Amino acid sequence: MTDQTITSVSRESRIFKPSAEFKSQANLGSYEAYRRLYTESVNAPDKFWSKQAKEHLVWRKPFKKTLQWKAPHAKWFTGGKLNVSENCLDKHLGTARENKAAIIFEGEPGDVRTITYRQLHFHVCRLAHILENSGIKAGDRIAIYMPMIPEAMIAMLACARIGAVHTVIFGGFSAEAIKDRLNDCQAKLVITADGGWRRGKIVELKANVDKALYGAPSVQSVLVVKRTGNEVNMVEGRDTWWKEAWEGAPNKHTAKAFDSEHPLFILYTSGSTGKPKGVLHTSAGYLLGAKLSSHYIFDLKENDRYFCSADIGWITGHSYVVYGLLSNGSTVFLYEGAPNQPEPDRFWQMIDRHGITILYTAPTAIRAFMRWGDNYVTRHKLDSLRLLGSVGEPISPEAWRWYHKMIGKGRCPIVDTWWQTETGSIMIAPIPGAIPAKPGSATLPFFGIVPKIVDEKGKEVPRGTDGKMIITKPWPSMLRTLWGDDERFKKAYFGDYPGVYFTGDGAKQDKDGYFWISGRVDDVLNISGHRIGTAEVEAALATHPSVAEAAAVGRPDDLKGSALVVFVSLKTGIAADDALKEALRAHIGREIGSFAKPDAVRFAAGLPKTRSGKIMRRILKEIAAGREVKGDTSTLEDFSVITALQQED
Ligand code: WT7
Repeated sequence: MTDQTITSVSRESRIFKPSAEFKSQANLGSYEAYRRLYTESVNAPDKFWSKQAKEHLVWRKPFKKTLQWKAPHAKWFTGGKLNVSENCLDKHLGTARENKAAIIFEGEPGDVRTITYRQLHFHVCRLAHILENSGIKAGDRIAIYMPMIPEAMIAMLACARIGAVHTVIFGGFSAEAIKDRLNDCQAKLVITADGGWRRGKIVELKANVDKALYGAPSVQSVLVVKRTGNEVNMVEGRDTWWKEAWEGAPNKHTAKAFDSEHPLFILYTSGSTGKPKGVLHTSAGYLLGAKLSSHYIFDLKENDRYFCSADIGWITGHSYVVYGLLSNGSTVFLYEGAPNQPEPDRFWQMIDRHGITILYTAPTAIRAFMRWGDNYVTRHKLDSLRLLGSVGEPISPEAWRWYHKMIGKGRCPIVDTWWQTETGSIMIAPIPGAIPAKPGSATLPFFGIVPKIVDEKGKEVPRGTDGKMIITKPWPSMLRTLWGDDERFKKAYFGDYPGVYFTGDGAKQDKDGYFWISGRVDDVLNISGHRIGTAEVEAALATHPSVAEAAAVGRPDDLKGSALVVFVSLKTGIAADDALKEALRAHIGREIGSFAKPDAVRFAAGLPKTRSGKIMRRILKEIAAGREVKGDTSTLEDFSVITALQQED
């Protein structure tokens, strides 16, 4: 834990109650009903979760025990067996949902495809055969590096069907980052595409995979979807076109049942060291968390058309594009490209064109829409929308009000959902027909979730006081460990407050018990809703031949939430010029991905350090933000570096 001070987001004092109209149709329509269920869920969690698991999941073999908890290790629904893909697909067949659209896809160039539940099932069965025929067994790891196209969802579900563990790598990651992930989980197969469309250009995904594979010997084969038609290099004996593999593969596949705790996926996320963490989620508990939260928080109805703008390379895409929605039999709208292609009104156009009813997006996108101007919005009707969601970072009251008025026309409740890659599903959010919203607050905990705000010692702080947020009870969709590094898992999440989960976020609770989350209190930055560890950026810089030492910090930014600023001291004799700044930015782009390129590179003769040699990031943050350096500097080894740093730039 670090010594950073926590400042809460600004507030708007109005309370937005759900309308009578919304309440009357809601899956949960009153505050009292929420309180009752919540109280039950935390007073008798075993009973509550056991009931939900029986009701919401299709079991091949009933579970014996609801929870085995030996902190920090949880096992949920042990003795039970199920198949996750069967819970997302097969269960809808033979019902009214069979011919309902599971996916409505729109590519960036404007191509549209609709895939029904029946068709999606065919596709997934086929791919399941193809994977099995290439020697994939339950438990093997498969990496998915794809654009936002239906095949990405098919790939995830096919892995789930045969018990293979998928790791989806966001399409913005570089070859180097792919390589690290493939090696960490020893992936056997990669599913990718020739390319994807982004702002009218082709992102060459297969070429990145090719580069990564020079250093990833565990990968035996690569399956390639043709999306953009750019030229790719197919390696004989290793690479196969998806379409060719498709020919002759049967479209029926008998799914095996797997244990509740069978690993479902690994998702890499940033932490406070240079090495990304492979967050492991397992089957039954994860699926239950994703399904139940989607049902209540998105208030899903049979006729909804739901659009989540997150990439499937992030947890939001896993839980709230794929698993939570399909297990509820919903229609998911999937969009491949950028929100401003060809014009900044692409989302609003698509919402009208496809009759989208629920939109789930991020504050960083909302801020971009605000900046692009209201006239891109007002030329569209948006009258199909009935519910809006926000995720990824605190939403400022200004952005909340704009979203509510301009997009929701004052009619749609907003669900501000707080959660993390590690939590698997939404932990804190207003159930829209039941919990009045306060702009800027994620409001109250979901069923079974017990967050608390504590001080450094783990003692609960009084209401209205800033502190650190922990979650005191285990929940079904919690991460089980970090892939291959249980020690790090214990230390990172259960080390600060023994036996309880530490979120890494600062927050406070108001007099009504509402949670106001201010953001990370560790060395993790949230840049445009992407999580980036400062240590990862520093490790990337350290591999550049001109760099002696580097430190990365965040600086408040109107558009991105935080902007990334790196302070670099160079090796003797290296000239500090603009060309080198650009070269260092490009270097980070190659080591991590373009989205991690710093907004500013500042050269420094020396970095501020304590006498024991620890970089004092707090000081660098103040300098990066252009603030006066305040607070205790008595442990600083050499004060003159501060004056020098302030004069730089
Ligand atoms: C971190 C988790 C969970 C999906 C997207 C990000 C921040 C997330 C909110 C919110 C305030 C939020 C937290 C959290 N965060 N949602 N509604 N209000 N902060 O997943 O990359 O695992 O990042 O995002 O700081 O710890 P992630």
